[in-house]
Amino acid sequence: MAAQFMEPRLVVLSRGPELYSTRRLATEAEKIGWAVRIIDPLTLTIVVGEKGGRIFHGGWPVECEAILPRIGYSITRRGVAIVRQFEQTGAIVLNSSYGIVRSRDKLMACQMMAERRVPVPITAHVGAWEDTGRAVSRVGGTPCVVKSTEGTHGSGVFLVRSEQQARQLVYQMLERGMRPLVQEYIEESHGQDIRAFVVGGEVVASMRRKAHGNEFRSNFHLGGSVNEVKLTQRQREIAVQAAETLGLDLAGVDMLESVRGPLVLEVNSSPGLEGIEGATSVNVAGKVAKHLNARFEAVQEEYALSHSDGLDTESG
Ligand SMILES: Nc1ncnc2c1ncn2[C@@H]1O[C@H](COP(=O)(O)OP(=O)(O)O)[C@@H](O)[C@H]1O
Ligand SMILES: [Mg+2]
Repeated sequence: MAAQFMEPRLVVLSRGPELYSTRRLATEAEKIGWAVRIIDPLTLTIVVGEKGGRIFHGGWPVECEAILPRIGYSITRRGVAIVRQFEQTGAIVLNSSYGIVRSRDKLMACQMMAERRVPVPITAHVGAWEDTGRAVSRVGGTPCVVKSTEGTHGSGVFLVRSEQQARQLVYQMLERGMRPLVQEYIEESHGQDIRAFVVGGEVVASMRRKAHGNEFRSNFHLGGSVNEVKLTQRQREIAVQAAETLGLDLAGVDMLESVRGPLVLEVNSSPGLEGIEGATSVNVAGKVAKHLNARFEAVQEEYALSHSDGLDTESG
């Protein structure tokens, strides 16, 4: 790594340089010695050929030691392609392209977590609308939740009271090329969930989100309110396992509190910082920057080891 004696360079991939999370992450990384640039991923050009690939911005190659992708839902495909190209350069990437892809697909995330025995609500993916009734029975009957496997901010998430209503929604989603999920409704948790913020395999902050009024979805973007909450040991373990299962350095793990214990609802790979820093007064962006430093130091150590002359390598 050529930049050993220079400030390490961090590129924050974000479409919104003025967004709270982007600003906070950039500021905290700068504070501990990173040279930070915020670049809109959609303004980057990738060139690949037999000698590999390169990334350009305004005609100039982009070089950096690390990237922090903040890829919005609407640009997942394009953003992930950019992240993948940075991975090829050997840069440290928080989060990896695979992590982002897995977290964006609720079905894939549920499948992977179920396989690793991370508790999730009973979830059915329905391939043909005629099977909706059977799926509803399998998740425990109505009321149940119908949602699209891709979706965010609570849009595309419905609490349904009848099989008829479920069938209608599934039909409409299939018709639009969406993949519908029928999910067990965790009534005990109506209108609230827990967001655990995991950085580098540790929960650094956590909050309870409460829905606004009669709303059953507790998304911050739907006017939900947030409060700091202290997690149980079990909740911490599950949050860390969920992030690890999806391969995320940085994750917002959403859990419902059911009578049979915590269930992971979804894992966000670009979790917002405003709600959690406001609710907890934890410097979450600072924790991310620290983790970035730890990753960078590990890479440097490895580099130093592989380039020493074999005089004093292989300790222990
Ligand atoms: N199975 C469920 N049982 C109870 N509440 C749920 C269930 N699924 C979703 N919710 C509520 O709806 C919100 C949005 O659902 P979620 O699956 O996280 O979709 P999104 O990705 O749009 O945030 C959750 O934060 C939770 O409050
Ligand atoms: Mg959610």
